[in-house]
This record gives sequence, structure tokens and C-alpha cells, in this order.
Amino acid sequence: SFLFKDWSVLALSRTPTFLHVNQTQHCKRLEGLVSSQVQLCRSNLELMHTIIQAAREVKKTCQKTFADMRWNCSSIENGPNYLPDLERGTRESAFVYALSAAAISHTIARACTTGDLRLCSCGPIPGDIPEPGYRWGGCGDNLHYGLVMGSKFSDAPMKMKKSGSHANKLMHLHNSEVGRQVLQNAMEMKCKCHGVSGSCSIRTCWRGLQDLKDIAMDLKTKYLSATKVVHRPMGTRKQLVPKDIDIRPVRENELVYLQSSPDFCSRNDKLGSVGTQDRQCNKTSNGSDSCDLMCCGRGYNPYTEKLVERCHCKYHWCCYVTCKKCERTVERYVCK
Ligand SMILES: *[C@@H]1O[C@H](CO)[C@@H](O)[C@H](O)[C@H]1NC(C)=O
Ligand SMILES: *[C@@H]1O[C@H](CO)[C@@H](O)[C@H](O)[C@H]1NC(C)=O
Ligand SMILES: *[C@@H]1O[C@H](CO)[C@@H](O)[C@H](O)[C@H]1NC(C)=O
Ligand SMILES: *[C@@H]1O[C@H](CO)[C@@H](O)[C@H](O)[C@H]1NC(C)=O
Repeated sequence: SFLFKDWSVLALSRTPTFLHVNQTQHCKRLEGLVSSQVQLCRSNLELMHTIIQAAREVKKTCQKTFADMRWNCSSIENGPNYLPDLERGTRESAFVYALSAAAISHTIARACTTGDLRLCSCGPIPGDIPEPGYRWGGCGDNLHYGLVMGSKFSDAPMKMKKSGSHANKLMHLHNSEVGRQVLQNAMEMKCKCHGVSGSCSIRTCWRGLQDLKDIAMDLKTKYLSATKVVHRPMGTRKQLVPKDIDIRPVRENELVYLQSSPDFCSRNDKLGSVGTQDRQCNKTSNGSDSCDLMCCGRGYNPYTEKLVERCHCKYHWCCYVTCKKCERTVERYVCK
């Protein structure tokens, strides 16, 4: 149905690897694009390549970031019809939209640097003068180009007149912007040493982005403290405002959601929960991956796993290392 349309970029992560988007007629074979996105694809095939790559990154990064949580990004796995948790405007969808927006801009900004995109190149050299012993050089990530082209693509579905509910569109737009803001804060100075035999007497530096997994961790923190909002008249138009807290506008740096999530303990297809049965848990942890929390008090079953590791490694002059293989048995646990 219209309401359950998947607007996140994730549909693209399923683009078959054999489909090389190098002809404009490939654009309409891509899943889940709205017309203005198809247009962007036709006018800039190189950029589309980068965006498909970003979509795959989102899927991998989301699953890694939530590997220790009851909700483990499973909704993304189950294409082509995503489980409803992403479309109901939950906290989880807030995270996915924010990460998607950040990832698209991140991948574009980096692609400018690596030379994968012909329409952009290195970011500008910073205006401030670096400390003695440091100098600007190298090729910085082009954050500006990433943000401009990334938001053009990411926000296109939410800018369409006739589609879905106004509240959901506002929520997705807001969270995408939060994702891009976290990305902007992830610019840091990176340097390379020069000098006689690595003495590092001079450093060449540029402004580069942190890895996407670090940005995802920041967004996970925001996910954990996300604010529930309602869609209500404020002045002349309807806006999202925090539900429980006294009247204040939504903050620019907080993720917002409209619908509460299930506890993800048991399977509920209608709510998009696959449950935690057979998930691995950690008996010694007291975090979200502990057997207590992960298994929702149902208990857990032990099993043993054989690990093969390199051991008794020996260095031979000159220059190689030989190792033996050792087997070790570890006990693991899965939720009942
Ligand atoms: C498109 O990409 C495929 C696979 O890399 C290649 O075989 C084909 O020649 C390319 N077509 C054009 C028009 O560049
Ligand atoms: C997430 O959890 C589900 C349900 O237990 C499981 O089937 C799936 O393999 C998990 N996904 C990942 C990426 O770990
Ligand atoms: C379980 O949790 C403990 C404590 O947080 C940690 O040191 C250990 O590596 C974890 N084990 C596994 C298998 O993840
Ligand atoms: C477990 O929780 C306690 C209290 O919250 C904390 O002080 C402790 O460091 C935690 N232990 C581990 C292994 O995470």
C-alpha cells in the first residue's frame, strides 16, 4: 500500500551485482526509486554507482551496529517486502533513515576523493593556518558535494506532493538531516608523516571523514535516547512536537519517532518483529547482549563451538613466520 512504501535507500542494496548501471535505461530497473531519483540517475550514472554502494554499506553497518540488540536490523534482510517496523515510523526506522542519509553523503564525499566521480574532486583546503610542523596537503573528503548531492537523492521521496502521510515525511526528513549533521561532525584532521626515516618532522594533513561505523555508533546513541513526537498544529501548520515533555520544538540533533516499537522478544509479523529465539547471547555480559535481556527471561541453551586458531608461531630469520593450528572449544549460548 501507499503508506507502507519503503522510502529508505535500502531497496537499492538488493541491486544485483551483475547490473552495472552504465546505461540510462538501467535506471528504471532499479528498485524503489521515485521519479526524481530516476532522473538523477539518468543524468549522473556515476553518482548512482556510488549510491548503490552506499546502500550496501548501510545494510552491513546497520547489522554490525545492532548485533548486540534484540532488534538486529533484520527488517533490512527480509526484502523485497520490508517488515512493517520500518514503515510505521518507529525508533528503528529513525535510525535507518538517519544512517542511510549519512552513508549516501559519506560515500559521495569519499568518491570525490578517490576519483570515482568525475564531477567533483578533493574538498577545499582549510582556510586556517596549521600549527608549525604541519601543512595542508593531500586530498580531503568533499563533504560539501556529498551533502548537496546526497540530500538531493535521499530527500527526494519525502519532497513529493502526493505520497504517504505528512507526519511520516516530516519524520524521515528530520532524521535524515540528523544523520547528515552527525556526518558533518565526523570531519577530522588526518595526517601523514614525512621526514628522514619516518622522523615525522613534517606532517601533511587534510580534512577527512571518520569511518561509517563510527558515525553509526553516534547514531545508535541517539537512537537510544530518541524522542517520541506527535503531529500537531503549531502556529499555522502541523509540525512534529515532543509528546511527553512540556512544549518545546523538536531539537535539531535528536532522532524522533511517531510509533512505539514492540519489545522484539517474540515473533510478531504484523509489528515486524522476528523475535530473539535462537539468537546468540552472552552469559558474562550485563549489557543488551546478555542472556537475560536478549532472551527476555525465557532462558537459553548452551552449545559448544570448536575454534581453530593460529598458535605456537615462530619467527624465522629472515623473514617469515610459521604457525601451528590449535583447536579450542568454547561454550556459547542461544536463546530459547
Ligand atoms: C557496462 O558495463 C558492463 C559490465 O562492466 C560492460 O560489459 C559494458 O560494456 C558496459 N557498457 C557500456 C556502454 O559502457
Ligand atoms: C537477526 O536475528 C534474526 C532472528 O533471530 C536472525 O534470523 C538473523 O540471522 C539475525 N541477523 C543477523 C544479521 O545477525
Ligand atoms: C561477552 O561479554 C564479555 C563482557 O562484556 C566480553 O568480555 C566477551 O568478549 C563477550 N563474549 C563474546 C563471545 O562476545
Ligand atoms: C555491569 O554493570 C555494573 C553496574 O551497572 C557495572 O558497574 C559493571 O562495570 C558492568 N560489568 C560489565 C562486565 O560490563
